[in-house]
Amino acid sequence: MVQIAPSILAADFANLGGAIRLVESAGAEVIHVDVMDGHFVPNITMGPPVVASIRKVTSLPLDVHLMIEDPDAYIQPFVDAGADWVSVHVETCPHLDRTLQLIRSLGAKPGVVLNPATSLSTLDEVLRIVDHVLVMTVNPGFGGQRFLPYTLEKVQRLRKVIQHKGLSAKIEVDGGVSLENVPDLVKSGAQILVVGSQIFGDPDPAAAVKKLKALAERSAVDPQSLA
Ligand code: DX5
Ligand code: ZN
Repeated sequence: MVQIAPSILAADFANLGGAIRLVESAGAEVIHVDVMDGHFVPNITMGPPVVASIRKVTSLPLDVHLMIEDPDAYIQPFVDAGADWVSVHVETCPHLDRTLQLIRSLGAKPGVVLNPATSLSTLDEVLRIVDHVLVMTVNPGFGGQRFLPYTLEKVQRLRKVIQHKGLSAKIEVDGGVSLENVPDLVKSGAQILVVGSQIFGDPDPAAAVKKLKALAERSAVDPQSLA
């Protein structure tokens, strides 16, 4: 089943609790939390106190996407605040295996993120120890950007690698995901769809979640047929 992960970056920060309850009741499966530090990416968003607050208003898994330098220093505070999944960019981790092991040792699910220009080959050695791979389909830093079409082929290649190695890592996509590209993304192998502006930019975010879910379900194909 394809999962919808609304990105609260596009929500009204003065009403995060209401926004999360709305998408949860509409059937969203995961809440995506974008953490930016103004160094690794040119924007600043939120830290562990915000995660601790939103932890209190939802039982959905919190998917914390760390777009920060030196993520190792902040993993424990985010897990303590209630992060269930923690994803780190390969571009920020000189000791990637150690970082992923740290996330798992704290009881969270480790994920790894690739910028659009970062090769899949950087994952060769760690694919077996991650729960998910987040493929950036825009350059990270801002919501509301245009989807980069060439990333679709990257998702297809990643799906083949995961299948051929017999691994269980899920494929997540993030950036510019919309009703227009969901069918292609799902057919290419995306299993978790991070969606910001298409949901919270809609006057009716709950209806937007339902539309995306229905479209994703219709687009899903038997994974065996893709082998
Ligand atoms: C971008 C973030 C995304 C962003 C997605 O750096 O990682 O999660 O919020 O927002 P949309 O769906 O508007 O591109
Ligand atoms: Zn994100």
